Amino acid sequence: MRKQIAAANWKMNKTLSEGMSLLNDILSANQTLGSDQHIIFAVPYPYLIPAQNAVSGQQNIAIAAQNCHHKTSGAFTGEVSVDMLESIDIKYVVIGHSERREYFAESNEMLAEKTDLCLAKGITPIFCCGEPLSIREAGTENQYVEQQLNQSLFHLDNQQIEKIVIAYEPIWAIGTGKTATSAQAQEMHAHLRQVIASKYGHETAEKISLLYGGSVKGANASEIFSQPDVDGGLVGGASLVAAEFVQVINGLKS
Ligand code: 13P
Repeated sequence: MRKQIAAANWKMNKTLSEGMSLLNDILSANQTLGSDQHIIFAVPYPYLIPAQNAVSGQQNIAIAAQNCHHKTSGAFTGEVSVDMLESIDIKYVVIGHSERREYFAESNEMLAEKTDLCLAKGITPIFCCGEPLSIREAGTENQYVEQQLNQSLFHLDNQQIEKIVIAYEPIWAIGTGKTATSAQAQEMHAHLRQVIASKYGHETAEKISLLYGGSVKGANASEIFSQPDVDGGLVGGASLVAAEFVQVINGLKS
């Protein structure tokens, strides 16, 4: 089975002590993860090291950064490079979240650069894509999301693309309480897998974990994750409440 992933995206929430107690509450719920089940916590930069320490030695649990810069180093005050993340042993980075695209003007081309830097350091990008409401209403979401992949990922070769995790997050479902139906999620995920298959072949496409994000919570996770092309979720609001996120984890396919 492909990796099934429950990924928490804390965004810009929680102080250090709040975040660490959230993490510990989730860890102490003591789930036994199957060999293909993984939990990832994308925490704010200042908490990466304490969070790494909190999960160290735990099978299939990792800490992710929420972003990285698209240049290797230099005069970019306030930014964090992929080399810095590698130097503290970070294995995942969220790339191209819609909030970064919207508020920080991140382009598909810039995200291609970030992807390349991560892969060169053995860091797995959790590459986010997804359409705004106007595009969904116009019925052109497939082409829109396809273009995001095309411009940021499709320069990669087979071995590289296999290493990417893709998160489909329709913007109209983020933080709105309005989840895509499991059928809508499956439809887009199947489409994306098909697009990847037509470029890289079926075998490669079958290896890539496709996460759904947008108002996932304890009550809807297992229904959404049960879809054949949905391999888990990237979760915002519900990842900030231990009991909710534990339920999300329990919704992963086993
Ligand atoms: P919500 O789960 O709060 O809708 O956020 C989704 C998201 O943006 C995860 O990256």
